[in-house]
Amino acid sequence: MIADEEMVCECLKISAKEIRDSIARGNNSVEMITEDTEAGSACGKCKSYKSDPKMSRKYHIEEDFLERS
Ligand code: FES
Repeated sequence: MIADEEMVCECLKISAKEIRDSIARGNNSVEMITEDTEAGSACGKCKSYKSDPKMSRKYHIEEDFLERS
């Protein structure tokens, strides 16, 4: 499990806990999580592997949070 304090969206400084809390509020797609938290609204690389082909971000909302939960 990714630690709560790990930074998922480096641009907007959104942590793993904030992503999980958003999912717990019923946001179950990357688009909804972005709208709720702003994670992914700058460079977009933290959204998914597809949006980050060079894997420059450590975590990705789609694969690390939505597909695992
Ligand atoms: S790392 Fe999330 S928008 Fe850039």
